[in-house]
Amino acid sequence: MAKVDVLLGEKRTFYPPKEMVSQSNVKQWMDAHDIPDIETLYQRSQDIEWFWGEVEKDLVQWYSPYDKVLDSSDAPFFHWFTNSKYNIVHDALDRHMGTPTQDKVAYIFESEQGNVSTLTYRDLYNEVNRVANGLKGLGVGKGDRVALYMPMIPALPIAMLACARIGAVHSVVFSGFSPHALQDRIKDSGAKVLITADGFWRKGKVINLKTLADEAVKDTGIEHTICYAWAQCDVPMRKHDMWWDELVKGQPTECETELMDPDDPLFILYTSGTTGKPKGVVHVHTYSVGIALTLKWVFDLKPDDIWWCTADIGWITGHSYIVYAPLMLGTTSVLYEGAPAHPEPNRQWEMIARHGVTVFYTSPTSIRMHMRFGDEWTQKDDMSCLRLLGTVGEPINPEAWMWFYENIGKRRCPIMDTWWQTETGCFVISPLPVLPLKPGSATRPLPGFNAEVHDSDNKAVVDEGGSLVLTSPWPSMLHTLYNEPRRYVEHYWNENHDFVSGDIARVDSDGYFWVQGRGDDVLNVSGHRIGNSEVESALVSHPLVSEAAVVGRPDDIKGESIAAFVSLKMGVEPGDELVKTLRDHVAREIGKIARPDVIYFVNDLPKTRSGKIMRRIVRSALISKEVGDISTLANPEAVKEIEDVLSKNK
Ligand code: PRX
Repeated sequence: MAKVDVLLGEKRTFYPPKEMVSQSNVKQWMDAHDIPDIETLYQRSQDIEWFWGEVEKDLVQWYSPYDKVLDSSDAPFFHWFTNSKYNIVHDALDRHMGTPTQDKVAYIFESEQGNVSTLTYRDLYNEVNRVANGLKGLGVGKGDRVALYMPMIPALPIAMLACARIGAVHSVVFSGFSPHALQDRIKDSGAKVLITADGFWRKGKVINLKTLADEAVKDTGIEHTICYAWAQCDVPMRKHDMWWDELVKGQPTECETELMDPDDPLFILYTSGTTGKPKGVVHVHTYSVGIALTLKWVFDLKPDDIWWCTADIGWITGHSYIVYAPLMLGTTSVLYEGAPAHPEPNRQWEMIARHGVTVFYTSPTSIRMHMRFGDEWTQKDDMSCLRLLGTVGEPINPEAWMWFYENIGKRRCPIMDTWWQTETGCFVISPLPVLPLKPGSATRPLPGFNAEVHDSDNKAVVDEGGSLVLTSPWPSMLHTLYNEPRRYVEHYWNENHDFVSGDIARVDSDGYFWVQGRGDDVLNVSGHRIGNSEVESALVSHPLVSEAAVVGRPDDIKGESIAAFVSLKMGVEPGDELVKTLRDHVAREIGKIARPDVIYFVNDLPKTRSGKIMRRIVRSALISKEVGDISTLANPEAVKEIEDVLSKNK
């Protein structure tokens, strides 16, 4: 690994093929605007109102035009495209009707078992409208929240678009989350309808989702659960439960679109924060402008491209780049239900070849997993259809970058390492396929975005690590936190109204950003954000646990893995059985993604005199770093105990 790091790092750059540069969407836009070169584009786009006002013209259609591109008078509540009337579904579906795109395939869907079906834009339009009418029939209207707990099947984008069509706010909860996590999110959003499925396939087995959903809706305000029959597994149907087919039966394939104001929410998506309570990030309909532009420019999508983003729709990547932006651009996307390396490690490579995927977007964790399977698995399928690659979710180490470049892209396909967050809604720091690439760097803030690295005095620094902040607003930014506007202000914005991302980064002398990871108490496991305190709360909710400290430790595949230090109630005996019980308990409370990889039992955890558990010290002990000054701790002996436990378990 070290050898590759030295070889690549900042020293080596990779250039996109010349014809890709000259034919790229960004270059065409520059030509149309008399912008001679990319540096001029970066400069001119500093005038964000001009820039976003100019780009929106090619991307969206308004029911009624806006007065101002941006109103910052209420900062950090920023209002984009003021006084407009708009609905994102118009751009995702309606505008394609009556054009050749209506007969184009929107989704090539493949089930884990290998069945392939296609949905055209017209099919999607019809089904969305039937569901929208069905929801209206249940009394769902503008502003109502609808929770979606669904697998990666076409019914999920359909349900999202149906909600958006009638002005309802969808809150998608990743299908890997536990009933408990779903219940919390349903309660917080006040959803009155839940849409789920009977089950889905994962690694050859059926997961019965409806049973989990039933557990979650107890004691919530859910009035109706709608169930999509997919895996054909047995599920109990209770009073107020309804099959999807019953919902849409006899419903017309036209449905009036709700005209939305610029501040009306499109969706809530919960994400982990530094406290145990997840944050309900709110995005509005006009977030469309940012997502459509970034997809069009970064992945350079053309009418003939076949796009495959392997994320789950339960996360922001799926919302923005499987559902809304590709549909706005009239793209054909691959949608896949199941596990990436099932039944054989080359499942994805075989699918790329069979479906003729031209642009492939995945995560560093998945790349590292494939590296472990061995290069021979990448040589079985003809992937010459690919022209561009991308990654998201976590820093990509240069070795994984190089492996992806050589084995999947066969040295022909530039890699777009896109840095962004649930909160940003769209890519922020990312290459364009006209820029030289440095493996491991997400390169520069895109045109229309401004970022800096700040030291602890909020001064911009170059070539040293600091806090990554965005210094100007952008159209697909989060609008607020659901029901927590104060938390939104306090958590994200400094006194200069810079958006504080929570990440640590460094910017080099070429202006390239190197994102190192989270700077706050949030873990990034396989690209999933998990709050340390969320896992701790889950652990201490177990009756045998007294206290817990949860920290991350570097992991070759997942980026970070979860280690928990647990002290037990008086008289409780630790042991392997209890480790299993607690891991299962966390999986039940949050979901398998948050299950600790290791649990260490200790008598005490290091604390300040005011009783705050010092995670930083626990983590330093875990990764064998200097623990620093511990004289201010109330119980310095706890550090010694941790070190002893760790050395015994080596
Ligand atoms: O730490 C950064 C990391 O993922 C975090 C955002 O997580 P989430 O809101 O779940 O959204 C993930 C998908 C956009 C960021 O704060 N991250 C995301 N992309 C990158 C990254 N870290 C380094 N490089 C990236 N390309």
